[in-house]
Amino acid sequence: MQPLEEIDIRDWSGSVLPEMRAKAADALESGRVLFFPRLGFAMDEDERRFLSAALSSGDRKNITLNPDTGSSHGSDLDGEDKRRLEAILQRFAASATELIWMLIPAYAGNLERARTTFRPVEIAGRDYSPKKDDRLLHVDAFPSRPTGGRRILRLFTNINPDGKSRVWRVGENFQDFATAFLPKLRRQYPLEALTLSLLGITKGRRSPYDQLMLQLHDRGKLDAGYQQRAPQSEIAFPPNSTWICYTDQVLHAALSGQFALEQTFHLDVAHMVDAYRSPIKILERLTKTRLA
Ligand code: SIN
Ligand code: FE
Repeated sequence: MQPLEEIDIRDWSGSVLPEMRAKAADALESGRVLFFPRLGFAMDEDERRFLSAALSSGDRKNITLNPDTGSSHGSDLDGEDKRRLEAILQRFAASATELIWMLIPAYAGNLERARTTFRPVEIAGRDYSPKKDDRLLHVDAFPSRPTGGRRILRLFTNINPDGKSRVWRVGENFQDFATAFLPKLRRQYPLEALTLSLLGITKGRRSPYDQLMLQLHDRGKLDAGYQQRAPQSEIAFPPNSTWICYTDQVLHAALSGQFALEQTFHLDVAHMVDAYRSPIKILERLTKTRLA
């Protein structure tokens, strides 16, 4: 499988040919990365002063905009500067939403806009614990935020001002990965999901699907042999390029790069063009159980 599907559009809104729409949905849902080599995000002179690693507070990697409140956390900014940065993130979120609606009208109205992040910190050369190290191949799954099978769709734009690419590795298809790891995964203990949610460790109930996805995330990262030997290709996303993928399905590792904007969306499986290809349906077929 070719990891990338390249689409040469230069605007976040407008119209696209029906063939391109069909191609975009099919590529995304089959676990490929949509790549827009000439789609950058415009920032004016004044906004460019935010391109500084010192912006994020302490050892935080990201500055995050909460879509419900419109306010951000993760930076030491306050007052007018904080509002300016939030305005950039809002504008990016709006552009990202328009782009996906234009490309995949079937998703329009059904996509939930989740957080927007600014990633000002260089990825390479930092210390992370293996489970938190996104330089290792993984599918996205978060301990405190169960999805119950809903999709995680993410859009990234490289806004590096110094010509530096953001370098990823993209791995094998989800079904092969899951098939290899499933026999090693443990199922939930009775009352485990209820306890985690009562203790406030998870936001809502961790479904059997979330349990499996978390373990795929962790076991995959912790398996040094897998990291070395799994099929994978390296991809450099240059400045002023954009890419979109289902990060709950595409095995990805972010090796290096600094200054990116990212928008997360959630989508119910029922609103996919072909739900059959979602991780939850794949895992349900492999385990012959209902997982959410
Ligand atoms: C990740 O989702 O693993 C990180 C991607 C990135 O920051 O480029
Ligand atoms: Fe990730």
